[in-house]
Amino acid sequence: MGMNSYKIGLGNLDTKTRRNAESDNVSFWNEEAKKLSWFKPWTKTLVWNSPFAKWFIGGEINASYNTLDVHQDNIAKKPAILWEGEDGTSRTITYADLYTDVCKFANVLKSLGIKKGDRVTIYLPMVPELPITMLACARIGAIHTVVFSGFSAASLRDRIDDSKSKVIVTADVGYRRGSSMDLKGIIDESISGLNFVEHVVVLKRAEGNLQLGPKDSLWHELMNGSSDKCEPEHLESTHPLFILYTSGTTGKPKGVLHGTGGYLTHLNSTFQWAFDIKDSDIFFCTADIGWVTGHSYVVYGPLLHGATEIMYEGVPDYPDTSRIWDIIDRYGVTIFYTTPTALRMFMKFSDTIPNSFKLSSLRLLGTVGEPINPEVWRWYFKTIGKSKCPIVDTWWQTETGGMMLSPLPGLETISLKPGSVTRPIPGTDITVVDEQGNELPSNTKGYLVIRKPWPGMLLTLWGDDEKYKNVYWSKFENNYYSGDYAIKDSDGYFWLLGRADDILKVAGHRIGTAELESSLVSHRDIAEAAVCGIPDEIKGEVIVAFTVLKENTKNEPSLLRKELMEIVRNGIGPIATPQQIYFVTKLPKTRSGKIMRRVLKAIASNENVGDISTLEDSAAVMDVQNAFTELQNAIRKNKS
Ligand code: WTA
Repeated sequence: MGMNSYKIGLGNLDTKTRRNAESDNVSFWNEEAKKLSWFKPWTKTLVWNSPFAKWFIGGEINASYNTLDVHQDNIAKKPAILWEGEDGTSRTITYADLYTDVCKFANVLKSLGIKKGDRVTIYLPMVPELPITMLACARIGAIHTVVFSGFSAASLRDRIDDSKSKVIVTADVGYRRGSSMDLKGIIDESISGLNFVEHVVVLKRAEGNLQLGPKDSLWHELMNGSSDKCEPEHLESTHPLFILYTSGTTGKPKGVLHGTGGYLTHLNSTFQWAFDIKDSDIFFCTADIGWVTGHSYVVYGPLLHGATEIMYEGVPDYPDTSRIWDIIDRYGVTIFYTTPTALRMFMKFSDTIPNSFKLSSLRLLGTVGEPINPEVWRWYFKTIGKSKCPIVDTWWQTETGGMMLSPLPGLETISLKPGSVTRPIPGTDITVVDEQGNELPSNTKGYLVIRKPWPGMLLTLWGDDEKYKNVYWSKFENNYYSGDYAIKDSDGYFWLLGRADDILKVAGHRIGTAELESSLVSHRDIAEAAVCGIPDEIKGEVIVAFTVLKENTKNEPSLLRKELMEIVRNGIGPIATPQQIYFVTKLPKTRSGKIMRRVLKAIASNENVGDISTLEDSAAVMDVQNAFTELQNAIRKNKS
């Protein structure tokens, strides 16, 4: 973990300012918030009624005003979004275009009866209409709730039902890996019987006729008759901007609720600090807007700064693995932000692919979503960044709203260490504690916690303050529990060591074991299921499932496996498909009946199971081990 020569940075934040920002975080954020445009200044910077934070009380602000109206005088003609479809089609959307379309669509929403505080579910692929809809909601104070277009009808239904959205915005199709996904069909299935859904707006993209139901109307028809004048609502700083559902350790996904003034302040500052954004930059974040990275660093961060960004609909390796490098060269991308999973995939292919591109426009590289292996970090630095681009490894979560640990080249000079997220952003208090909540000495593994409120922090979980308290604030008193393991080294640098709870990170996507297990047991032949993640060279982690069959099950194992894979795909989405399913007669449990996922994980990764003295019945271990060996042998036999 030694220091090395990856020294970066342009800013000159000194140690003293940094220390002050940590001890008096309220004054620090008070100054940062002034960088936004407010209709009315706040009277109190923070009201901390633990664990509920209210930032910039009394202030009035609007997210769409700060991303659009403020740019109309000087950069109206500047491209905001350079969109490219998988088939190579492209569109350029300037700040003036975006402004007009957002105003028009805000009026469409009003005409459909949407008012301040109402929820709008958005189920769109990566097309400009997605940020347009989000900003239109923000303009009138409606709360957007975007659902990743890879989620199944059942997942979508849970989210629509929980948020009680009156209006849904979708498209007929999305394109991915050369084929089209029937989004409208999924919407129809998901809302059947949900009477509170009043309207479905459909963006028609494909040729041919589209069957419309009584609730449906077409995007372009509604837009045609809509006025392009729409005054932004003056919203209280704490007014909810969006709900984003994310996986937790128990039951159904949780609706993480974010506010306006605090969230925007956090993004405005971190986007500048981490990416050192300049007027001439071309920014490219590969995240889908259906995840938090897309909300914060495709939609709000770049648009607050009047940046030009690439928006790409499709997968990074289609039609081949040169796609991303080709986009970087063709558009002259200067800042590139992606995931370790994507990098590991690129790294697996020959370097002659990226080496056949210039990549000379790049000046800054970023990564997010999972720990990055030091060797991948070095590959990224050398092969993509040509040893001249700093790498900003950014740690944060759906709940934190924006980056919390990251090098900040736009703010300060720092030496990088491959695999470390370096230090907390200023104005935060983050550390590593033991099981009892005591701060740990350096180089000791423990739980990553946040000890003071920060502006981007979630307001609560939608409709469930109790759960919010339990999930994040009950493990350690007055400390936010992140669910991650970390160590802080003797230079104060943080190293993330993966999740400490039952959340998996598969290809950077967050998936809860509880959701997976309830999906599996919904099959008529399954009595019990337990799921864990095992290390994977590319995806970081893949899912393996252990299932106990009901008695007298006659299903053929291979057929049953297929059905179970199907059930997960249909119940959650393709991203949650297990890599392997094992049939066992017993699951390893503690005497209190808790499934020992650690034991399952060890067996499925072919490792020593370690201490199993707390196990209720050690025969379960043998049983799981046998199921594992049997299947591995069968797979080997099949291959040869
Ligand atoms: C993980 C994604 C290591 C972590 C923005 C966290 C990371 C979870 C990093 C949140 C990183 C995110 N290094 N691990 N740079 N960034 N994580 O809500 O486990 O989808 O708790 O937000 O991703 O995932 P989420």
